[in-house]
Amino acid sequence: MDIDTAELLAGQIESREMNLKTLFAEDPARAEKMTVSAAGWTLDYSKNLVDEPTMKLLVRLAEKANLKQEIEAMFNGVHINKTEDRAVLHTALRSSKTSGLVVDGQDVYGDVQAVLKQMGEFANLIRTGKWLGATGKRIKYIVNIGIGGSDLGPAMAYQALAPFTKRSLKCFFVSNVDATHMAETLLQIKADQTLFIVASKTFTTQETMTNAHTARAWLVEKLGDAAVAKHFVAVSTNAAKVAEFGIDTANMFGFWDWVGGRYSMPSAIGLSLMIAIGPTQYKRLLSGYEAMDRHFRTAPFKRNLPVLLALLGILYSNGYGADSYAVLPYDQYLARFPAYLQQLDMESNGKSVDREGNPVDYMTGPIVWGEPGTNGQHAFYQLIHQGTRLIPADFIGFCKSHNPLSDHHDKLMANFFAQTEALAFGKTAEQCRAEGVPENLVPFKTFEGNHPTNTLIAPELTPKTLGALIALYEHKVFTQGIIWNIYSFDQWGVELGKVLAGKILKELSDTTLPLAHDASTNALIAYYRANKRTK
Ligand code: F6P
Repeated sequence: MDIDTAELLAGQIESREMNLKTLFAEDPARAEKMTVSAAGWTLDYSKNLVDEPTMKLLVRLAEKANLKQEIEAMFNGVHINKTEDRAVLHTALRSSKTSGLVVDGQDVYGDVQAVLKQMGEFANLIRTGKWLGATGKRIKYIVNIGIGGSDLGPAMAYQALAPFTKRSLKCFFVSNVDATHMAETLLQIKADQTLFIVASKTFTTQETMTNAHTARAWLVEKLGDAAVAKHFVAVSTNAAKVAEFGIDTANMFGFWDWVGGRYSMPSAIGLSLMIAIGPTQYKRLLSGYEAMDRHFRTAPFKRNLPVLLALLGILYSNGYGADSYAVLPYDQYLARFPAYLQQLDMESNGKSVDREGNPVDYMTGPIVWGEPGTNGQHAFYQLIHQGTRLIPADFIGFCKSHNPLSDHHDKLMANFFAQTEALAFGKTAEQCRAEGVPENLVPFKTFEGNHPTNTLIAPELTPKTLGALIALYEHKVFTQGIIWNIYSFDQWGVELGKVLAGKILKELSDTTLPLAHDASTNALIAYYRANKRTK
């Protein structure tokens, strides 16, 4: 991050106290000025601790980081993922262009369209019952076996887009290597009506391969070896490993090393979702992503939704020292959205060295958490309202519900609007007294307010608005990575644990192996060895 500007930012915060009540009183047009719409979404960021000079300073931060050039580099396929020497082209996955981008000798748009066509044809075969299982029955259950980016995106979107799914098909998402996840899923499905999609970019991930082998053994036991071809397909970049596993590569849907796992939902990793919602709705999802991509690439920073969210996040992380931000969707269908964002944001920007390899001396990626409203209100909002930490929050809501039962939606949205109002403006001691609150209770019933929030609102949760919402956060994370001068597209931090787990796995199965870890780990492994199930 540009140090001068960072210091300036901190100085700005110290010297000028921002009070939302005063800011709103001083400028009746504040809400209007600080509301921006794009790609079906409206962002009201007026309830943030900013005024026009602060926003200008923040925009300068983006300019000084050469954000414009960096955006172009990403869209044009420059190898911006330097530590893995790869392009970062998830935006190409949702482009409606069919030609015009050649990267490392590959016709990127052409290849993307070819895989989308292959996915569409396959999805239609399943949906129309033309693809039959080994005993001649229609496929009714889809089990996506994957983890991280090969699970969270389609799992989140399958739930988010439930009203658009073919209800006679049921999708399951098995990710955890804990056998419970697979075992409980197998209890709910029938082998001769099930399609397993083994989704793994590398096709080497321990959890996914273990689950895939277990599923294969279960199916073979029930239907025999020859059934595998009708009940297993793969999504991967690694054809050799797919073939080695025993899946015909004719039943493989490919993608490319320039698609990061956590950015892979609109690649073939979305196959389960496409089967569920159909190719037409899937196309609408991609068009939502593309609309936000276009906005991000072309809108001036001060009217650019992803850039604004990124800059405000940087203000709270680096200016105010906020550790986390909450994402609070007021829509039950978006229940898994915070979990999806955790990987997107924390795996991307959880970095502590800059692009030159030097330790950073400022905060980078925040902790992301959240739950759907109104449930969260009855759990953790107390801390946001009256705790000692600053927790900026994004409130996400829709004007129309897919389930217009009595007045549920008005009640939901009344809470949605009430919370950001209460967080911003609070309740003073004087107001409490005027309401007759006894003096000894006034300190407890006073709400300080001045808690910053963003409000994101759209007419309805549809494939299109979901695509745009995901792209909004993807580009927010990208922008922050640029300003923090870190690499957002690698994830070396997950490697060490994987290597150690491989070593320990041997020690758990062969209990005669000597243990040479630290004293704590040795004792814990010994305890496990002494108590584990032996048959
Ligand atoms: O745990 C790290 C990670 O590499 C993620 O980035 C990725 O989404 C996940 O594992 C799954 O990887 P794969 O798709 O190769 O199985």
